[in-house]
Amino acid sequence: MADFVGAVDQGTTSSRFMIFDHEGNERGKYQLEHEQILPQAGWVEHNPVEIWERTSSVIKTALGRAGLQSSDLAALGITNQRETAVVWDRTTGRPYYNAIVWQDTRTDRIASKLDREGKGDVIRRKAGIPPATYFSAGKVQWILENVDGVRAAAERGDAVFGNTDSWLLWNLTGGTDGGVHVTDPTNASRTMLMDLETLDWDDELLSFFDIPRQMLPEIKPSSCPTGYGTTLRTGPLAGEVLLTGDLGDQQAAMVGQVCLAPGEAKNTYGTGNFMLLNTGEELVRSESGLLTTVCYQFGDAKPVYALEGSIAVTGSAVQWLRDQLGIISGAAQSEALARQVPDSGGVYFVPAFSGLFAPYWRSDARGAIVGLSRFNTNAHLARATLEAICYQSKDVVDAMEKDSGVHLEVLKVDGGVTANDLCMQIQADVLGVEVSKPVVAETTALGAAYAAGLAVGFWKDTDELRQNWNEDRRWSPAWDDTQRSEGHAQWKKAVDRTLDWVD
Ligand code: G3P
Repeated sequence: MADFVGAVDQGTTSSRFMIFDHEGNERGKYQLEHEQILPQAGWVEHNPVEIWERTSSVIKTALGRAGLQSSDLAALGITNQRETAVVWDRTTGRPYYNAIVWQDTRTDRIASKLDREGKGDVIRRKAGIPPATYFSAGKVQWILENVDGVRAAAERGDAVFGNTDSWLLWNLTGGTDGGVHVTDPTNASRTMLMDLETLDWDDELLSFFDIPRQMLPEIKPSSCPTGYGTTLRTGPLAGEVLLTGDLGDQQAAMVGQVCLAPGEAKNTYGTGNFMLLNTGEELVRSESGLLTTVCYQFGDAKPVYALEGSIAVTGSAVQWLRDQLGIISGAAQSEALARQVPDSGGVYFVPAFSGLFAPYWRSDARGAIVGLSRFNTNAHLARATLEAICYQSKDVVDAMEKDSGVHLEVLKVDGGVTANDLCMQIQADVLGVEVSKPVVAETTALGAAYAAGLAVGFWKDTDELRQNWNEDRRWSPAWDDTQRSEGHAQWKKAVDRTLDWVD
Protein backbone atom coordinates (compact mmCIF):
# COMPACT_ATOMS: atom_id res chain seq x y z
CA MET A 1 0.00 0.00 0.00
CA ALA A 2 1.06 3.58 -0.68
CA ASP A 3 2.65 5.47 2.25
CA PHE A 4 0.39 8.53 2.45
CA VAL A 5 -3.19 9.75 2.44
CA GLY A 6 -4.25 13.08 0.91
CA ALA A 7 -6.97 15.47 2.05
CA VAL A 8 -8.62 18.48 0.45
CA ASP A 9 -9.81 21.05 3.00
CA GLN A 10 -12.10 23.50 1.22
CA GLY A 11 -12.76 26.21 3.82
CA THR A 12 -14.55 29.56 3.96
CA THR A 13 -11.50 31.66 3.18
CA SER A 14 -9.11 29.21 1.53
CA SER A 15 -8.64 25.78 0.00
CA ARG A 16 -5.74 23.58 0.98
CA PHE A 17 -4.36 20.17 0.20
CA MET A 18 -2.50 18.17 2.82
CA ILE A 19 -0.63 14.91 2.75
CA PHE A 20 -0.25 12.80 5.93
CA ASP A 21 1.79 9.74 6.84
CA HIS A 22 0.69 6.84 9.02
CA GLU A 23 1.66 8.68 12.24
CA GLY A 24 -0.54 11.60 11.22
CA ASN A 25 2.44 13.85 10.46
CA GLU A 26 2.25 16.39 7.66
CA ARG A 27 4.25 15.41 4.62
CA GLY A 28 3.03 18.16 2.30
CA LYS A 29 0.74 21.15 2.33
CA TYR A 30 -0.32 24.04 0.12
CA GLN A 31 -3.07 26.60 0.49
CA LEU A 32 -4.67 29.38 -1.56
CA GLU A 33 -7.27 31.95 -0.58
CA HIS A 34 -10.30 32.79 -2.71
CA GLU A 35 -12.34 35.95 -3.08
CA GLN A 36 -15.02 36.88 -0.56
CA ILE A 37 -17.76 38.42 -2.67
CA LEU A 38 -19.93 40.84 -0.64
CA PRO A 39 -22.53 42.26 -3.07
CA GLN A 40 -24.60 43.96 -0.36
CA ALA A 41 -25.02 44.07 3.42
CA GLY A 42 -25.56 40.57 4.76
CA TRP A 43 -24.74 38.81 1.47
CA VAL A 44 -21.63 36.59 1.22
CA GLU A 45 -20.77 34.64 -1.93
CA HIS A 46 -17.92 32.59 -3.40
CA ASN A 47 -17.21 31.78 -7.03
CA PRO A 48 -17.44 27.95 -7.33
CA VAL A 49 -15.27 27.93 -10.46
CA GLU A 50 -12.54 29.80 -8.60
CA ILE A 51 -12.85 27.30 -5.73
CA TRP A 52 -12.40 24.37 -8.13
CA GLU A 53 -9.43 26.06 -9.82
CA ARG A 54 -7.78 26.90 -6.49
CA THR A 55 -8.38 23.35 -5.25
CA SER A 56 -6.78 21.93 -8.40
CA SER A 57 -3.77 24.24 -7.97
CA VAL A 58 -3.20 23.39 -4.31
CA ILE A 59 -3.34 19.66 -5.07
CA LYS A 60 -0.77 19.98 -7.86
CA THR A 61 1.53 22.28 -5.88
CA ALA A 62 1.42 20.31 -2.63
CA LEU A 63 2.20 17.05 -4.43
CA GLY A 64 4.95 18.66 -6.52
CA ARG A 65 6.62 20.36 -3.54
CA ALA A 66 6.53 17.13 -1.53
CA GLY A 67 8.03 15.26 -4.49
CA LEU A 68 5.08 12.86 -4.51
CA GLN A 69 2.67 11.50 -7.10
CA SER A 70 -0.88 10.24 -7.00
CA SER A 71 0.47 6.66 -6.73
CA ASP A 72 1.92 7.61 -3.31
CA LEU A 73 -1.60 8.17 -1.99
CA ALA A 74 -3.53 5.22 -0.59
CA ALA A 75 -6.78 7.22 -0.65
CA LEU A 76 -8.14 10.72 -0.76
CA GLY A 77 -10.46 12.50 1.65
CA ILE A 78 -12.37 15.74 1.37
CA THR A 79 -13.64 18.15 3.97
CA ASN A 80 -15.43 21.42 3.43
CA GLN A 81 -17.07 24.56 4.71
CA ARG A 82 -20.54 23.30 5.49
CA GLU A 83 -23.93 24.70 4.43
CA THR A 84 -22.50 26.85 1.59
CA ALA A 85 -24.75 26.06 -1.37
CA VAL A 86 -23.71 25.55 -5.00
CA VAL A 87 -26.27 24.91 -7.75
CA TRP A 88 -24.80 23.89 -11.09
CA ASP A 89 -25.82 22.36 -14.40
CA ARG A 90 -24.67 18.79 -14.77
CA THR A 91 -24.76 18.99 -18.56
CA THR A 92 -22.59 22.11 -18.93
CA GLY A 93 -20.69 21.97 -15.62
CA ARG A 94 -21.46 25.64 -15.02
CA PRO A 95 -22.79 27.04 -11.74
CA TYR A 96 -26.05 28.97 -12.16
CA TYR A 97 -25.08 31.43 -9.46
CA ASN A 98 -22.25 32.07 -7.04
CA ALA A 99 -22.09 29.78 -4.02
CA ILE A 100 -24.22 31.32 -1.25
CA VAL A 101 -22.04 31.11 1.83
CA TRP A 102 -23.14 29.87 5.27
CA GLN A 103 -22.68 33.38 6.71
CA ASP A 104 -25.12 34.94 4.21
CA THR A 105 -28.34 36.29 5.76
CA ARG A 106 -30.40 37.05 2.62
CA THR A 107 -32.77 34.18 3.44
CA ASP A 108 -33.87 35.78 6.70
CA ARG A 109 -37.49 36.05 5.50
CA ILE A 110 -37.54 32.46 4.26
CA ALA A 111 -36.29 31.30 7.66
CA SER A 112 -38.62 33.40 9.81
CA LYS A 113 -41.69 32.46 7.71
CA LEU A 114 -41.08 28.78 8.47
CA ASP A 115 -41.64 29.39 12.17
CA ARG A 116 -44.69 31.56 11.54
CA GLU A 117 -46.20 28.76 9.44
CA GLY A 118 -45.57 26.19 12.15
CA LYS A 119 -42.98 24.33 10.06
CA GLY A 120 -40.07 25.25 12.32
CA ASP A 121 -40.80 22.55 14.86
CA VAL A 122 -40.99 19.88 12.17
CA ILE A 123 -37.52 20.95 11.01
CA ARG A 124 -36.24 20.93 14.60
CA ARG A 125 -37.65 17.44 15.21
CA LYS A 126 -36.62 15.79 11.94
CA ALA A 127 -33.41 17.65 11.04
CA GLY A 128 -32.24 18.53 14.58
CA ILE A 129 -31.66 22.20 13.70
CA PRO A 130 -33.77 25.36 13.90
CA PRO A 131 -34.87 27.21 10.75
CA ALA A 132 -32.08 29.73 10.17
CA THR A 133 -30.29 31.54 7.36
CA TYR A 134 -27.20 29.47 8.24
CA PHE A 135 -28.35 26.23 6.61
CA SER A 136 -28.42 25.26 2.92
CA ALA A 137 -32.09 24.71 2.08
CA GLY A 138 -33.16 28.37 2.18
CA LYS A 139 -30.18 29.27 -0.02
CA VAL A 140 -31.23 26.68 -2.63
CA GLN A 141 -34.82 27.97 -2.48
CA TRP A 142 -33.51 31.50 -3.03
CA ILE A 143 -31.58 30.41 -6.14
CA LEU A 144 -34.61 28.51 -7.47
CA GLU A 145 -36.79 31.58 -7.00
CA ASN A 146 -34.40 34.30 -8.13
CA VAL A 147 -32.15 32.95 -10.88
CA ASP A 148 -33.66 32.64 -14.34
CA GLY A 149 -34.08 29.16 -15.71
CA VAL A 150 -32.98 27.24 -12.61
CA ARG A 151 -36.43 26.02 -11.58
CA ALA A 152 -37.09 24.51 -15.03
CA ALA A 153 -33.59 23.01 -15.18
CA ALA A 154 -34.09 21.48 -11.73
CA GLU A 155 -37.41 19.94 -12.82
CA ARG A 156 -35.61 18.49 -15.89
CA GLY A 157 -32.90 17.04 -13.62
CA ASP A 158 -30.13 19.26 -15.03
CA ALA A 159 -29.69 21.71 -12.14
CA VAL A 160 -28.19 19.98 -9.12
CA PHE A 161 -27.28 21.15 -5.65
CA GLY A 162 -24.36 20.36 -3.41
CA ASN A 163 -22.19 21.84 -0.71
CA THR A 164 -18.61 22.39 -1.77
CA ASP A 165 -17.76 18.74 -1.00
CA SER A 166 -20.22 17.58 -3.67
CA TRP A 167 -19.09 20.25 -6.13
CA LEU A 168 -15.44 19.20 -5.79
CA LEU A 169 -16.17 15.46 -5.77
CA TRP A 170 -18.18 15.92 -8.98
CA ASN A 171 -15.33 17.84 -10.63
CA LEU A 172 -12.60 15.52 -9.34
CA THR A 173 -14.39 12.45 -10.70
CA GLY A 174 -15.03 13.76 -14.20
CA GLY A 175 -17.56 16.62 -14.07
CA THR A 176 -19.74 16.61 -17.19
CA ASP A 177 -17.94 13.42 -18.19
CA GLY A 178 -19.54 11.15 -15.58
CA GLY A 179 -18.74 12.95 -12.31
CA VAL A 180 -20.40 11.50 -9.21
CA HIS A 181 -23.02 13.51 -7.32
CA VAL A 182 -22.61 12.50 -3.68
CA THR A 183 -22.31 13.84 -0.17
CA ASP A 184 -22.09 12.37 3.34
CA PRO A 185 -24.48 12.51 6.32
CA THR A 186 -22.48 15.20 8.16
CA ASN A 187 -22.90 17.63 5.29
CA ALA A 188 -26.47 16.52 4.62
CA SER A 189 -27.35 17.13 8.28
CA ARG A 190 -26.67 20.86 7.74
CA THR A 191 -29.23 21.39 4.99
CA MET A 192 -32.57 21.21 6.93
CA LEU A 193 -33.52 18.51 4.40
CA MET A 194 -32.24 15.26 5.93
CA ASP A 195 -34.01 13.20 8.58
CA LEU A 196 -31.41 12.55 11.30
CA GLU A 197 -32.82 9.11 12.07
CA THR A 198 -33.12 7.69 8.54
CA LEU A 199 -30.09 9.59 7.13
CA ASP A 200 -32.16 10.16 3.99
CA TRP A 201 -33.65 13.24 2.35
CA ASP A 202 -37.14 13.82 3.71
CA ASP A 203 -40.04 14.63 1.35
CA GLU A 204 -41.90 16.79 3.86
CA LEU A 205 -38.80 18.90 4.52
CA LEU A 206 -38.16 19.16 0.77
CA SER A 207 -41.74 20.39 0.29
CA PHE A 208 -41.20 23.24 2.80
CA PHE A 209 -38.57 24.70 0.46
CA ASP A 210 -40.08 23.47 -2.82
CA ILE A 211 -36.82 21.73 -3.74
CA PRO A 212 -37.11 18.88 -6.29
CA ARG A 213 -35.58 15.71 -4.85
CA GLN A 214 -33.57 14.99 -8.01
CA MET A 215 -31.44 18.08 -7.30
CA LEU A 216 -29.89 16.40 -4.27
CA PRO A 217 -26.74 14.28 -4.06
CA GLU A 218 -26.72 10.66 -2.99
CA ILE A 219 -25.80 10.34 0.72
CA LYS A 220 -22.94 7.89 1.30
CA PRO A 221 -20.98 7.11 4.51
CA SER A 222 -18.35 9.64 5.65
CA SER A 223 -15.77 6.85 5.48
CA CYS A 224 -16.75 4.76 2.48
CA PRO A 225 -14.83 1.55 1.65
CA THR A 226 -16.38 1.28 -1.83
CA GLY A 227 -15.48 4.92 -2.47
CA TYR A 228 -17.44 7.73 -4.06
CA GLY A 229 -15.42 7.52 -7.26
CA THR A 230 -11.90 7.78 -8.59
CA THR A 231 -9.89 10.83 -9.58
CA LEU A 232 -9.02 11.20 -13.25
CA ARG A 233 -5.64 10.84 -14.95
CA THR A 234 -6.43 14.12 -16.67
CA GLY A 235 -7.29 15.87 -13.37
CA PRO A 236 -5.08 17.69 -10.84
CA LEU A 237 -3.78 14.43 -9.33
CA ALA A 238 -2.74 13.17 -12.75
CA GLY A 239 -3.70 9.67 -11.68
CA GLU A 240 -6.43 7.49 -10.27
CA VAL A 241 -6.95 7.69 -6.52
CA LEU A 242 -10.04 6.35 -4.74
CA LEU A 243 -12.02 9.02 -2.90
CA THR A 244 -13.13 7.40 0.35
CA GLY A 245 -13.58 10.15 2.96
CA ASP A 246 -16.07 13.04 3.07
CA LEU A 247 -16.87 15.07 6.20
CA GLY A 248 -18.06 18.59 6.94
CA ASP A 249 -15.06 20.48 8.29
CA GLN A 250 -16.17 20.68 11.92
CA GLN A 251 -16.99 16.99 12.06
CA ALA A 252 -13.65 16.28 10.37
CA ALA A 253 -11.93 18.21 13.18
CA MET A 254 -13.73 15.93 15.68
CA VAL A 255 -12.22 12.93 13.92
CA GLY A 256 -8.80 14.62 13.66
CA GLN A 257 -8.95 15.37 17.41
CA VAL A 258 -10.02 11.71 17.94
CA CYS A 259 -13.14 12.80 19.82
CA LEU A 260 -14.55 9.40 19.00
CA ALA A 261 -16.16 8.46 22.32
CA PRO A 262 -19.31 9.89 23.90
CA GLY A 263 -18.45 12.89 26.12
CA GLU A 264 -15.39 13.96 24.08
CA ALA A 265 -15.46 17.51 22.73
CA LYS A 266 -13.39 19.99 20.75
CA ASN A 267 -13.60 23.66 19.83
CA THR A 268 -12.31 24.85 16.45
CA TYR A 269 -11.33 28.52 16.14
CA GLY A 270 -11.61 29.57 12.50
CA THR A 271 -13.70 32.22 10.76
CA GLY A 272 -16.28 31.21 13.35
CA ASN A 273 -16.04 28.85 16.31
CA PHE A 274 -17.58 25.41 16.30
CA MET A 275 -17.72 23.32 19.43
CA LEU A 276 -18.92 19.74 19.11
CA LEU A 277 -19.61 17.12 21.76
CA ASN A 278 -19.74 13.46 20.73
CA THR A 279 -23.01 11.92 22.01
CA GLY A 280 -22.38 8.47 20.52
CA GLU A 281 -25.25 6.60 18.86
CA GLU A 282 -27.69 8.64 20.92
CA LEU A 283 -29.50 11.50 19.22
CA VAL A 284 -29.58 14.16 21.95
CA ARG A 285 -32.12 16.92 21.34
CA SER A 286 -31.02 20.28 22.66
CA GLU A 287 -33.12 22.33 25.05
CA SER A 288 -30.51 25.08 25.15
CA GLY A 289 -29.99 26.34 21.62
CA LEU A 290 -27.48 23.79 20.34
CA LEU A 291 -27.74 21.82 17.12
CA THR A 292 -28.08 18.08 16.87
CA THR A 293 -25.92 16.92 14.01
CA VAL A 294 -24.29 13.83 12.54
CA CYS A 295 -20.70 13.54 13.79
CA TYR A 296 -19.69 10.82 11.32
CA GLN A 297 -20.74 7.54 9.78
CA PHE A 298 -17.93 5.08 9.21
CA GLY A 299 -18.72 2.34 6.67
CA ASP A 300 -21.83 0.37 7.57
CA ALA A 301 -21.56 1.13 11.32
CA LYS A 302 -24.34 3.09 12.98
CA PRO A 303 -24.00 6.85 12.72
CA VAL A 304 -22.45 8.76 15.61
CA TYR A 305 -24.16 12.03 16.57
CA ALA A 306 -22.96 15.24 18.18
CA LEU A 307 -24.30 18.34 19.85
CA GLU A 308 -22.88 21.46 18.25
CA GLY A 309 -22.56 25.08 19.29
CA SER A 310 -21.89 27.12 16.15
CA ILE A 311 -20.63 30.69 16.50
CA ALA A 312 -20.65 32.71 13.29
CA VAL A 313 -18.01 35.36 13.96
CA THR A 314 -14.77 34.81 15.88
CA GLY A 315 -11.61 34.80 13.71
CA SER A 316 -13.50 36.94 11.19
CA ALA A 317 -13.90 39.62 13.91
CA VAL A 318 -10.08 39.81 13.99
CA GLN A 319 -10.12 40.09 10.18
CA TRP A 320 -12.61 42.95 10.57
CA LEU A 321 -10.13 44.80 12.80
CA ARG A 322 -7.61 44.35 10.00
CA ASP A 323 -9.69 44.90 6.85
CA GLN A 324 -12.47 47.29 7.84
CA LEU A 325 -10.96 49.24 10.74
CA GLY A 326 -7.30 48.96 9.71
CA ILE A 327 -6.10 48.92 13.33
CA ILE A 328 -3.91 45.85 12.85
CA SER A 329 -1.93 44.64 9.85
CA GLY A 330 -2.39 40.93 10.46
CA ALA A 331 -3.92 38.39 12.83
CA ALA A 332 -0.67 38.00 14.81
CA GLN A 333 -0.66 41.71 15.57
CA SER A 334 -4.02 41.42 17.35
CA GLU A 335 -2.19 39.60 20.13
CA ALA A 336 0.61 42.18 20.38
CA LEU A 337 -1.92 45.02 20.47
CA ALA A 338 -4.17 43.33 23.02
CA ARG A 339 -1.16 42.61 25.23
CA GLN A 340 -0.50 46.35 25.60
CA VAL A 341 -3.36 46.52 28.13
CA PRO A 342 -4.10 44.32 31.17
CA ASP A 343 -7.84 44.10 30.35
CA SER A 344 -10.42 45.49 27.94
CA GLY A 345 -10.93 48.66 30.03
CA GLY A 346 -14.66 47.98 30.39
CA VAL A 347 -15.22 47.49 26.63
CA TYR A 348 -17.32 44.56 25.37
CA PHE A 349 -17.59 43.80 21.67
CA VAL A 350 -20.35 41.48 20.41
CA PRO A 351 -19.50 40.78 16.76
CA ALA A 352 -23.02 39.75 15.69
CA PHE A 353 -22.27 40.49 12.01
CA SER A 354 -24.32 37.53 10.76
CA GLY A 355 -26.83 37.73 13.58
CA LEU A 356 -26.15 35.53 16.59
CA PHE A 357 -25.92 31.78 16.20
CA ALA A 358 -25.76 29.37 19.17
CA PRO A 359 -27.22 29.49 21.69
CA TYR A 360 -29.31 32.55 20.70
CA TRP A 361 -30.31 31.92 17.04
CA ARG A 362 -31.21 35.51 16.27
CA SER A 363 -30.51 36.27 12.60
CA ASP A 364 -31.74 39.82 13.18
CA ALA A 365 -29.17 40.68 15.89
CA ARG A 366 -26.41 43.11 14.85
CA GLY A 367 -22.99 43.85 16.32
CA ALA A 368 -22.32 46.24 19.21
CA ILE A 369 -19.35 47.71 21.03
CA VAL A 370 -20.42 48.85 24.49
CA GLY A 371 -18.80 50.34 27.59
CA LEU A 372 -16.66 52.89 25.72
CA SER A 373 -15.10 55.87 27.47
CA ARG A 374 -12.51 58.39 26.30
CA PHE A 375 -9.86 56.32 28.09
CA ASN A 376 -10.25 53.43 25.61
CA THR A 377 -7.80 52.73 22.80
CA ASN A 378 -7.32 50.35 19.89
CA ALA A 379 -5.62 48.02 22.34
CA HIS A 380 -8.78 47.71 24.45
CA LEU A 381 -10.81 46.96 21.32
CA ALA A 382 -8.31 44.29 20.24
CA ARG A 383 -8.50 42.73 23.71
CA ALA A 384 -12.31 42.93 23.72
CA THR A 385 -12.28 41.11 20.35
CA LEU A 386 -10.25 38.24 21.78
CA GLU A 387 -12.50 38.17 24.84
CA ALA A 388 -15.57 38.04 22.56
CA ILE A 389 -14.19 34.88 20.94
CA CYS A 390 -13.85 33.33 24.39
CA TYR A 391 -17.13 34.55 25.90
CA GLN A 392 -19.09 33.27 22.91
CA SER A 393 -17.47 29.88 23.51
CA LYS A 394 -18.36 30.11 27.21
CA ASP A 395 -22.05 30.58 26.28
CA VAL A 396 -21.83 27.42 24.17
CA VAL A 397 -20.03 25.40 26.87
CA ASP A 398 -22.73 26.39 29.38
CA ALA A 399 -25.47 25.26 26.98
CA MET A 400 -23.64 21.99 26.33
CA GLU A 401 -23.26 21.20 30.01
CA LYS A 402 -26.95 21.90 30.53
CA ASP A 403 -28.04 19.68 27.63
CA SER A 404 -25.71 16.77 28.19
CA GLY A 405 -24.85 16.86 31.90
CA VAL A 406 -21.21 16.41 30.79
CA HIS A 407 -18.86 18.70 32.74
CA LEU A 408 -15.78 19.55 30.69
CA GLU A 409 -12.47 19.01 32.47
CA VAL A 410 -10.31 19.88 29.47
CA LEU A 411 -11.22 21.60 26.22
CA LYS A 412 -9.39 20.35 23.13
CA VAL A 413 -8.82 23.21 20.71
CA ASP A 414 -7.60 23.66 17.13
CA GLY A 415 -7.80 26.12 14.23
CA GLY A 416 -5.96 29.30 13.24
CA VAL A 417 -6.78 31.42 16.31
CA THR A 418 -5.15 28.84 18.62
CA ALA A 419 -1.81 30.33 17.50
CA ASN A 420 -2.87 33.36 19.59
CA ASP A 421 -1.43 32.51 22.98
CA LEU A 422 -3.23 35.36 24.77
CA CYS A 423 -6.59 34.33 23.34
CA MET A 424 -6.12 30.75 24.53
CA GLN A 425 -5.13 31.99 28.00
CA ILE A 426 -8.26 34.15 28.12
CA GLN A 427 -10.27 31.10 27.03
CA ALA A 428 -8.96 29.07 29.97
CA ASP A 429 -9.65 32.04 32.31
CA VAL A 430 -13.18 32.62 31.07
CA LEU A 431 -14.14 28.92 31.17
CA GLY A 432 -12.25 27.93 34.29
CA VAL A 433 -11.06 24.74 32.54
CA GLU A 434 -7.77 23.62 31.04
CA VAL A 435 -7.34 24.25 27.31
CA SER A 436 -5.26 21.76 25.33
CA LYS A 437 -3.88 21.93 21.79
CA PRO A 438 -2.49 18.98 19.79
CA VAL A 439 0.84 18.90 17.94
CA VAL A 440 -0.92 18.51 14.58
CA ALA A 441 -3.01 21.69 14.52
CA GLU A 442 -4.50 20.87 11.10
CA THR A 443 -7.08 18.57 12.63
CA THR A 444 -9.70 19.26 9.94
CA ALA A 445 -7.62 17.96 7.05
CA LEU A 446 -6.27 15.20 9.29
CA GLY A 447 -9.83 14.07 10.09
CA ALA A 448 -10.70 13.82 6.41
CA ALA A 449 -7.50 11.85 5.83
CA TYR A 450 -8.40 9.54 8.74
CA ALA A 451 -11.88 8.91 7.30
CA ALA A 452 -10.37 8.13 3.89
CA GLY A 453 -7.54 6.00 5.29
CA LEU A 454 -9.77 3.95 7.61
CA ALA A 455 -11.91 3.00 4.61
CA VAL A 456 -9.00 1.39 2.78
CA GLY A 457 -7.21 -0.12 5.79
CA PHE A 458 -4.35 2.43 5.79
CA TRP A 459 -5.29 2.80 9.47
CA LYS A 460 -6.59 -0.48 10.83
CA ASP A 461 -8.89 0.97 13.50
CA THR A 462 -9.60 4.05 15.59
CA ASP A 463 -7.14 2.91 18.30
CA GLU A 464 -4.36 3.58 15.82
CA LEU A 465 -5.69 7.09 15.37
CA ARG A 466 -5.72 7.71 19.13
CA GLN A 467 -2.03 6.82 19.31
CA ASN A 468 -1.30 9.66 16.89
CA TRP A 469 -2.76 12.37 19.17
CA ASN A 470 -0.14 14.25 21.19
CA GLU A 471 -0.48 17.43 23.21
CA ASP A 472 1.53 20.44 22.15
CA ARG A 473 0.41 23.12 24.64
CA ARG A 474 -1.87 23.53 27.62
CA TRP A 475 -3.29 26.70 29.21
CA SER A 476 -4.55 26.71 32.81
CA PRO A 477 -7.12 29.14 34.24
CA ALA A 478 -5.63 32.06 36.17
CA TRP A 479 -8.77 34.08 37.04
CA ASP A 480 -10.61 33.52 40.32
CA ASP A 481 -14.32 32.69 40.39
CA THR A 482 -15.41 36.27 41.11
CA GLN A 483 -13.50 37.69 38.16
CA ARG A 484 -14.94 34.96 35.97
CA SER A 485 -18.56 35.43 36.95
CA GLU A 486 -18.42 39.25 36.90
CA GLY A 487 -16.81 39.26 33.44
CA HIS A 488 -19.40 36.85 32.08
CA ALA A 489 -22.30 38.84 33.57
CA GLN A 490 -21.04 41.99 31.79
CA TRP A 491 -20.73 40.05 28.55
CA LYS A 492 -24.34 38.86 28.86
CA LYS A 493 -25.44 42.47 29.30
CA ALA A 494 -23.58 43.40 26.12
CA VAL A 495 -25.29 40.53 24.24
CA ASP A 496 -28.65 41.85 25.43
CA ARG A 497 -27.81 45.20 23.79
CA THR A 498 -27.36 43.52 20.37
CA LEU A 499 -30.81 41.98 20.75
CA ASP A 500 -32.40 45.23 22.04
CA TRP A 501 -31.21 46.95 18.92
CA VAL A 502 -33.68 45.08 16.75
CA ASP A 503 -36.54 44.55 19.24
O1 G3P B 1 -20.51 25.76 9.40
C1 G3P B 1 -19.54 26.56 8.80
C2 G3P B 1 -18.17 25.94 8.95
O2 G3P B 1 -18.16 24.67 8.40
C3 G3P B 1 -17.12 26.86 8.36
O3 G3P B 1 -15.87 26.49 8.80
O4 G3P B 1 -13.45 26.69 8.99
O5 G3P B 1 -14.50 27.10 6.80
O6 G3P B 1 -14.79 28.74 8.61
P1 G3P B 1 -14.57 27.31 8.27
